[in-house]
Amino acid sequence: MEKPQPLTANIHPGLEPPDINAYEKLGGYRALRQAIGSMAPEEVTRAVKDSHLKGRGGAGFDTGQKWSFVPMGNDAVHPKYLVVNADEMEPGTFKDRLLLEGGPHQLIEGAILAAYAVQADIAYIFLRWAYRLAARRLTRAIAEAYDHHYLGRNIRGSGYSLELYLHVSGGRYICGEETGLLNAIEGKRANPRSKPPFPQTSGLWGKPTVVNNVETLCNLPHIVNNGAEWFQGLSLSGEGGTKIYGASGRVRRPGAWELPMGTTIRELLEDHAGGMKAGYGLRGVLPGGASTDFLVEEHLDVKMDFSSVQKAGSRLGTGTMIIMDDHTCPVGMVLNLQRFFAQESCGWCSPCWGGLQWVAQTLAAIEAGEGQPEDLEMLKSHVAMLSPGHTYCALAPGAMEPLGSALTYFSDDFERHIREKRCAWRKQW
Ligand SMILES: Cc1cc2nc3c(=O)[nH]c(=O)nc-3n(C[C@H](O)[C@H](O)[C@H](O)COP(=O)(O)O)c2cc1C
Ligand code: SF4
Repeated sequence: MEKPQPLTANIHPGLEPPDINAYEKLGGYRALRQAIGSMAPEEVTRAVKDSHLKGRGGAGFDTGQKWSFVPMGNDAVHPKYLVVNADEMEPGTFKDRLLLEGGPHQLIEGAILAAYAVQADIAYIFLRWAYRLAARRLTRAIAEAYDHHYLGRNIRGSGYSLELYLHVSGGRYICGEETGLLNAIEGKRANPRSKPPFPQTSGLWGKPTVVNNVETLCNLPHIVNNGAEWFQGLSLSGEGGTKIYGASGRVRRPGAWELPMGTTIRELLEDHAGGMKAGYGLRGVLPGGASTDFLVEEHLDVKMDFSSVQKAGSRLGTGTMIIMDDHTCPVGMVLNLQRFFAQESCGWCSPCWGGLQWVAQTLAAIEAGEGQPEDLEMLKSHVAMLSPGHTYCALAPGAMEPLGSALTYFSDDFERHIREKRCAWRKQW
């Protein structure tokens, strides 16, 4: 039986996305008309809560619960804001790009539904600077949505008003962290903010703000149209819905696919990515982008949902897997990632700012055959020092996930570099 793909059924990469008339013919904006026409904002939140939709930005926080922290009622402070996190700079992650380029109206409808649920007055789409095609398509789609009175003052006579703006990022990874993102929109340096207060009560310009990921919001029209039970039924695990998974690395068919939440790593790798390229074997998988722990062959039957991947010792993150093959030096691969994280540190917490540079330098020395046996203990102490709770945001703890797990699963490779004073993979280049 065909697996339902509500998010991507109408997305055809390589073709122009449906314009607003085509989108409406496909059933688009029906959920929004129903919500603003006959549902109270709290009913929309209730529908999303019942679906147990978990945020697709990486942390997996329950979306309806997140909204429920926004002050509601006549005494609530205004303006309130809804921000779409379309920054997608996590290395190896390209799932939101598919939705942004292929279905801008689906995202806009989802964003208006979320904004309506929390009674936001203003919404921003915060877009990765490199996504130029998405920027063009979103600009056109936003104009069409205004023309059809799905945006602006008194939307379709409902009494609800919303302005939506596209904001293109300055282009740093830290701008994707939700409070760094808010500072960036305010025109400030994109340092994350100390929490609490959380954005739901004090976000943009100190006003109540919800930040949600692109894929999270694209689920909303389908949940409002079809209900929580339908959403649960899409999944192969206790966590509802589909997920846009991806795979990159030396696999036969790198790409992104919408599949039931809970699809196993093995199915993703073998059936959808086509297995490893001829001549290459599997050594490790970063299941959810660069800032997640490695999993290895024994984990191939793990379901790709938030709780199963966590039980296996990693995180679902963005659900887009980076595959490490047996011709790639694990030290070199982790070094490459640490250089990225060190460069993207905002510098607010000293352990992150100084620590990541130190980690990158040490890995570079090991990879060049100049490492010392005590370097491994030093790297492990950084993994402990930069663990969650020691920094203002999750960039540094995320950076430590591939490093800490590589030191566990590929310790022989690190030790061999130090013992032999060279990288054994170099001869294969
Ligand atoms: C360094 C860093 C970068 C992030 N980048 C993104 C991003 O590009 N897109 C995204 O949706 N979330 C990103 N996040 C997570 C956001 O802070 C936030 O949790 C997410 O946007 C919430 O959306 P959700 O509840 O719909 O998942 C990032 C987090 C960190 C620490
Ligand atoms: S952990 Fe790093 S990126 Fe995050 S606030 Fe601290 S210095 Fe900035």
